[in-house]
Amino acid sequence: MSKALSDTFAARLIAWHGHSGRSGLPWQGNRDPYAVWVSEIMLQQTQVTTVLERYPRFMKRFPTVKKLAAADIDEVLAEWAGLGYYSRARNLHTCAQQVMQEFSGKFPSDPALLEQLKGIGRSTAGAIAAFAFHERAPILDANVKRILARLFAVEGSIQNKVVNDRLWQLATALLPNDPQDMPVYTQALMDFGATWCTARKPVCLGSERKCPFEKACQANLSDQVLALPQKVVKAKSPEFDCDMVLIRSGNSVLLQKRPSKAIWGGLWCLPESAWRPKAAQALRAPPALEQLLAATLPQEKVGRLLKSCQQLFQGEQIKHVFTHRRLWMQIWELDFIKPLEFSNPDVQWVALNQLGRYGLPQPIKILLQGLSQARDGDLKN
Ligand code: ADE
Repeated sequence: MSKALSDTFAARLIAWHGHSGRSGLPWQGNRDPYAVWVSEIMLQQTQVTTVLERYPRFMKRFPTVKKLAAADIDEVLAEWAGLGYYSRARNLHTCAQQVMQEFSGKFPSDPALLEQLKGIGRSTAGAIAAFAFHERAPILDANVKRILARLFAVEGSIQNKVVNDRLWQLATALLPNDPQDMPVYTQALMDFGATWCTARKPVCLGSERKCPFEKACQANLSDQVLALPQKVVKAKSPEFDCDMVLIRSGNSVLLQKRPSKAIWGGLWCLPESAWRPKAAQALRAPPALEQLLAATLPQEKVGRLLKSCQQLFQGEQIKHVFTHRRLWMQIWELDFIKPLEFSNPDVQWVALNQLGRYGLPQPIKILLQGLSQARDGDLKN
């Protein structure tokens, strides 16, 4: 590594943050490790603008690690609804319980210990240690990998272990000497990657702003900025489809709780069939009602349900893109004269005006909110 750059990088980056970094965000300047941890987990796969709205709400509902650990997982999932990647909410809950049980309610400051907690990876452990405890711990998220791969022209796939180890080494070598600088430095790295050294439109390739590292950046000097880091070739994610039944009885809908280990684990959803590799649209014949109920609901009630339901309507087909797969959900609508009770507690009739108490996957929430609004409209008219 060039001596000049390693000696001056942190100071130059902190100076950059002074005029172009993000400041005044509700989680900044807070040394409470609980508050820092919640914000870092929420920010992992969610836009800052969304977190700005949802973070204060979450902190109001669960102001301490003790309160979060004692909450019911359903309450946590309901509060997380709409933020996606629900394993984060389940891990938050488990991690809060670990902190209560294994660390007497106090987050450890050592990044190696933080990393052993559920849902905290090495980079997030570094961020929490830096923000809350001023530890000289590096971070290395995708944005930081991009900055370092460019600055030092690191070739090879960032998924490769040797390349990754090299990036961790660089991230460690560049840390500021003074631990007091760790929060602003860490925030500056995140902000610089998110707003200036971006994947497709880095500042150095435009004419409006001047990158503080343009004369030191190996990728810039060798005209390789867009080529680094090497692109990860992603296989197209597989597509699936399934049937979902929207069963209504008066003002209620039938919801089923998903198994905790599955996608959307622990959230309440419409009863659904198994997922199948997606067939060409024309090949899939509409299911017979009996088949549909048998494929989506507990067996015990299918016979009785058949007797008390009315006509089946084909509803919308909703597409949802997950990280590693795409799902097409065909909604089938069915009205019941009277709701049958289910002995399984994971199958419940829920009044439309009570949906807010349940953690629902976002596309299902939108679908049911539509119903709820239509129903309000009916009532008003
Ligand atoms: N992404 C992850 N942590 C962040 C933070 N502290 N500020 C902005 N974006 C982030």
